[in-house]
Amino acid sequence: MIEIKNVTKYFRVGFFGTRKNAVEDLSLDIDGGKVTGFFGPNGAGKSTTIKMIVGLIKASKGSIKINGYDSFDYRARLKLGYLPENPSFPRGLKGIEIINYYAKLLNKKINKNEIYDALKLAGIFYAKNTQAHKYSKGMTQRLALAVSIIGDPEILIFDEPLSGLDPIGRKEFKDIIFKLKERKKTIFFSSHVLADSKELCDRIAVLVNGRLIKNENLENIEKEAAAYAEEKKEERLSGEYNTPLEVYLYDLMLKNRKN
Ligand SMILES: Nc1ncnc2c1ncn2[C@@H]1O[C@H](COP(=O)(O)OP(=O)(O)OP(=O)(O)O)[C@@H](O)[C@H]1O
Ligand SMILES: [Mg+2]
Repeated sequence: MIEIKNVTKYFRVGFFGTRKNAVEDLSLDIDGGKVTGFFGPNGAGKSTTIKMIVGLIKASKGSIKINGYDSFDYRARLKLGYLPENPSFPRGLKGIEIINYYAKLLNKKINKNEIYDALKLAGIFYAKNTQAHKYSKGMTQRLALAVSIIGDPEILIFDEPLSGLDPIGRKEFKDIIFKLKERKKTIFFSSHVLADSKELCDRIAVLVNGRLIKNENLENIEKEAAAYAEEKKEERLSGEYNTPLEVYLYDLMLKNRKN
């Protein structure tokens, strides 16, 4: 479904325009009809990878193909929905006007019911007539989610979809992911919350310092985590992370982080 092959992305930084790798030689296949969680510390390169997948920025090296089309070919995006990190919308427009506008950009006719359904699924229907700059962070996140699912795309790319949501919102959003999963959508989402890994994912990919350090299905990674917990059982775990999987992912990130 999505094939990422030997992708490197560097940015030029500082006065001398020195190259700084945000993503290094990343190869990853994202399976169709599955949920893949993309974990990694701040600055790991998750959003950079996601922006390359959705065609917003171009890889410096390597290739990304979506359903066989290069990620910067418009055809790659026809069946793709994207929820960006920290979404924001223009001032002065109501939620319904914003989603209508995005619906019009799609390459197919979207009727009013589809738009209402997306707003309802995202839990923001009640505020559709409010100007979006008056929304709270979580409400904005919900509107962005509604925008990402209009047109019923096959592939959904969510960059930290749960950030800014209250406990009820998080639960609702997870339920939405489950619903989309039942509909056999391909979902790729980034997250900082290690506990989300077990609940939502079929597969887990971990990126640290721009490098993929793990890419494994849930069953196998849980086995690895259980073995790791067995090995470490004498060491008392601190309160933040409790399950073997969370501890395993946490330690993996910590070990591989440079700073
Ligand atoms: N436009 C840019 N110019 C220069 N450096 C950039 C740019 N965008 C990202 N970077 C750098 O690339 C690295 C990866 O950033 P990215 O936003 O992909 O991380 P992330 O994993 O999404 O982090 P977070 O969890 O904080 O969202 C960081 O070191 C960042 O400073
Ligand atoms: Mg990010």
